Amino acid sequence: PKKHKVAVIGSGNWGCTIAKIVAENTVEHPELFDPEVQMWVFEEDVVLPKRLDAAATDDKLKLTHVINTYHENIKYLPNIRLPVNLVANPSVVDAAHDATLLIFNLPHQFIGNVCKQLNGNILPYARGISCIKGVNVSDDGISLFSEWIGDALGIYCGSLSGANLATEIALEKWSETTIAYAPPPVDHSENPPSRDRTPNRSGTATSSEVTPRDAHTHDIRHLDAKGQASKTKLTPLPADYPPLDHNTLSALFHRPYFHVSTVTDVAGVSLSGALKNIVALAAGFVEGRGWGDNAKAAVMRVGLMEMVQFGKEFFSETVHTTTFTEESAGVADLITSCMGGRNFRCAKLAIERGVPVDEVERTELNGQKLQGTTTAHEVNSFLKARGAESRYPLFTAVHDILLGRHKVDDIPQLVARSAHNI
Ligand code: NAD
Ligand code: 13P
Repeated sequence: PKKHKVAVIGSGNWGCTIAKIVAENTVEHPELFDPEVQMWVFEEDVVLPKRLDAAATDDKLKLTHVINTYHENIKYLPNIRLPVNLVANPSVVDAAHDATLLIFNLPHQFIGNVCKQLNGNILPYARGISCIKGVNVSDDGISLFSEWIGDALGIYCGSLSGANLATEIALEKWSETTIAYAPPPVDHSENPPSRDRTPNRSGTATSSEVTPRDAHTHDIRHLDAKGQASKTKLTPLPADYPPLDHNTLSALFHRPYFHVSTVTDVAGVSLSGALKNIVALAAGFVEGRGWGDNAKAAVMRVGLMEMVQFGKEFFSETVHTTTFTEESAGVADLITSCMGGRNFRCAKLAIERGVPVDEVERTELNGQKLQGTTTAHEVNSFLKARGAESRYPLFTAVHDILLGRHKVDDIPQLVARSAHNI
């Protein structure tokens, strides 16, 4: 039988952490995976620290060279040893060309350009998992990055999201995550994926991908997160590969320190990861104002209500409220992000220093990118176009504070209305 080849597209703080996890697992499951994992790195010049080589000079080196030589991403995940079977590659096309599983893990502002380069250059039967936290807002409306990637590349793409501050996981401190994956059955003998949660530990994944007798393109269209027919024509996985189902995905992502729960609600998992970043900014604002834990809890409560409401209002066909309230991707990610995420920390510093959040991002994050600020603006333009801003007072307040139209002191009054409206 053939083995799955894995490529990680992106190599930031979370990209490298996920790459470390999957490279550890490909070695442990040689029956399922080729041990080598390719990781696309947006090439940059870096200076090698003396702690890695006493003879290091101030000369610039390529980041890919440093990762492949010293097995560390010194810029985006310093002081963490990466597995030797993880190979940094500056060409996204080369990194992805023979992968059956593509893991997309980069800031959402760069995904369009990456998909343009990958289009037509990947295996037609590849599958994707998006670890990106954000939503895609365009003139046509709103879509999930998993859907956008799937449509752009003609593949099925699921989603991974959870209470996952990358640095803690890179240090192998225990956490949980949620993987949502529900490809349409490519063989009519298979039952369609269930709408129910399917914890992997039961070993009874309901969303399995059947390997067909041949691998011609099938005109198999599934319903997207809004219940509309997806544009994607899926090419079935050839029969000599292990099925790419919840069990295989758990084998790839589950570690003793990283516990995976598998579900079918791709919209709920993706939306939670995107929307909680707006709430984390609000938590940072009130913390920066010195208001303490009660205010932060109030922001989290209202934020969770707006997240659930958003899912129900705009993705009602597929989203499950329990994903927001019971999964790591939902409430747990909201809590961790509001306690220690970058969006929270930058928003707090911005208020303390009286400067824009973007400026803190530029000066404090050493090239890492915030997702909450762009998501706040994108979600706002989507809500505004539908006359729905007033029904999402916390999301709207964050957008207005970022633009200087409101102050943190206005938050209590603005969200007080939401207690009645939601
Ligand atoms: P990051 O913010 O650490 O790093 C930025 C990345 O962007 C770097 O790899 C850099 O090389 C790349 N980059 C810079 N300019 C680029 C360009 N022009 N084109 C392409 N790439 C460019 O990234 P991250 O933390 O790995 O975030 C990836 C996704 O993971 C985001 O959606 C984020 O919300 C999500 N996430 C992050 C964490 C975390 O703790 N860091 C945890 C969970 C999810
Ligand atoms: P930040 O991007 O705000 O650091 O959030 C990280 C995260 O998504 C934790 O689950």
